[in-house]
Amino acid sequence: MNKPDDHMFVIFGASGDLTKRKLVPSIYSLFVLDLLPKKFALLGAARSEYSDDEFRSNMKDAINEFGEHEDKSRIDDFLNLLYYQPYDSSEDSINKLKKKLDDLRKGNSISGNTVYYLSTPPSLYSTIPQSLASVDLNKEEDGWKKVVIEKPFGYDLESAQELNSKLMKDWHEDQIYRIDHYLGKETVQNLLVTRFSNGIFEPLWNRNFIHHVEVTSAESIGVEERGGYYESSGALRDMVQNHLLQVIGLTAMEPPSSVEPAAIRNEILKVFQSLRPIKEEDVKNCVIRGQYLSSTIKGEKVKGYREEKGVDPDSSTETYAAIKFYIDNWRWGGVPFYIRTGKRLPTRVTEVVIHFRPTPHFLFQQEDFCNTCNQLVIRIQPDEGVLLKIGMKTPGAGFDVQNVNMDFHYSDLSEQRIPSAYERLIYDAMNGDTTLYARSEEVMEAWKFLMPILNAWKNDSSIPLYGFPAGTWGPEKADSLIEEPEMTWRYPCKNLSDDGIYCEL
Ligand code: BG6
Repeated sequence: MNKPDDHMFVIFGASGDLTKRKLVPSIYSLFVLDLLPKKFALLGAARSEYSDDEFRSNMKDAINEFGEHEDKSRIDDFLNLLYYQPYDSSEDSINKLKKKLDDLRKGNSISGNTVYYLSTPPSLYSTIPQSLASVDLNKEEDGWKKVVIEKPFGYDLESAQELNSKLMKDWHEDQIYRIDHYLGKETVQNLLVTRFSNGIFEPLWNRNFIHHVEVTSAESIGVEERGGYYESSGALRDMVQNHLLQVIGLTAMEPPSSVEPAAIRNEILKVFQSLRPIKEEDVKNCVIRGQYLSSTIKGEKVKGYREEKGVDPDSSTETYAAIKFYIDNWRWGGVPFYIRTGKRLPTRVTEVVIHFRPTPHFLFQQEDFCNTCNQLVIRIQPDEGVLLKIGMKTPGAGFDVQNVNMDFHYSDLSEQRIPSAYERLIYDAMNGDTTLYARSEEVMEAWKFLMPILNAWKNDSSIPLYGFPAGTWGPEKADSLIEEPEMTWRYPCKNLSDDGIYCEL
């Protein structure tokens, strides 16, 4: 694999949770894998008044606790590359930060190449880049400059556009990396490989053979310590606007002309541009929202959403959302797409299920419309893999058909470790590869699609917010989204090959 050019990596929000849990442990993994350049330094910046040594000691604990690379023997060597500069958005502190960067560059003979990673509250996503530009830290004469921006990119279409135009005053699109950690998941990228490296799928991957497509992203945890953030977000903004729509983009896109970032991102954008707008008056029929209620899961009492820390006791924030929609293009005309996501569902699972059409004539006895329809399940997590459901003869007299599984589990592929999403995305940003980052048009199209839903929920109080017991599969009403009365959502288990209601969750 390529080593990135020599550079400085600056993390704003360096005393925060993401830095500790994901960013620094991922960069440590790159260090152990010898994927960092020879000349490299990491500068943490945040409000806290740490010295370099205090920051190093905090990061040492973080890598020991959260580091995914099992080799911890090189932590001390890695820590020598880490520095810290207090930063509070003031003019004085940006000048001090600039001075520290200059000194580090000179001291370590590093060129002007720099990644600025914003792991801060969203309110700083425009002010930090502006402040960097005010002291020319965006200028590329002495080397490239990139800004990585965490989600959420905006709160709605208007604020996303506003943020974008503020950024565009001092930076150009190629310098901005909008992160969506789902795109860093190996199995999300495998959607591309499954589709475009196998000749057998392409002829079937369209309205003629596919009955509907289902995407589930379920979590068994609640909002935990993030009630405050989640109150201003909800499932639609937190998961659908970014992660789930990106998964839809990769599932539904046309084959790109190459694996160049622009080719892939253009095709994803076309999918987003083809999403049929949901009219505000149709929201009550095509979108179901829910909120988890207190319950007992495996003998343990769990809180309802409204009782969580930082949550308004009368909150109407949705912790569950399910949507039915269409993609208006030649490939997908008339094929319903169903997506659902929620917290405090029975298990943590993300998967795409392609439901193929039934045979044109039922030769063998069928229990119902589609009890043996073929399904292709692409499991993103956990028990990553791919499963095909096919009908087989039940041994014995007659021609009874039963559904059986052909499954492939990623864990069987090799001993090779799967890099974490952040490891992959940080490495790509260092190398200037934008394939797995969202372009501004994609983000705007995603917001455009969601705005009628957000508006309808805000303006029409007659649209129900269904309560459902924590640990169940969300509001029963979500079943009514699926067109055929005999069909339901798939009820996935922890293990890809298990099925049905009685499985390990
Ligand atoms: C984050 C959301 O983007 O994704 C969280 O803000 C959510 O609410 C998380 O828990 C899920 O990510 P993963 O990788 O655990 O599926």
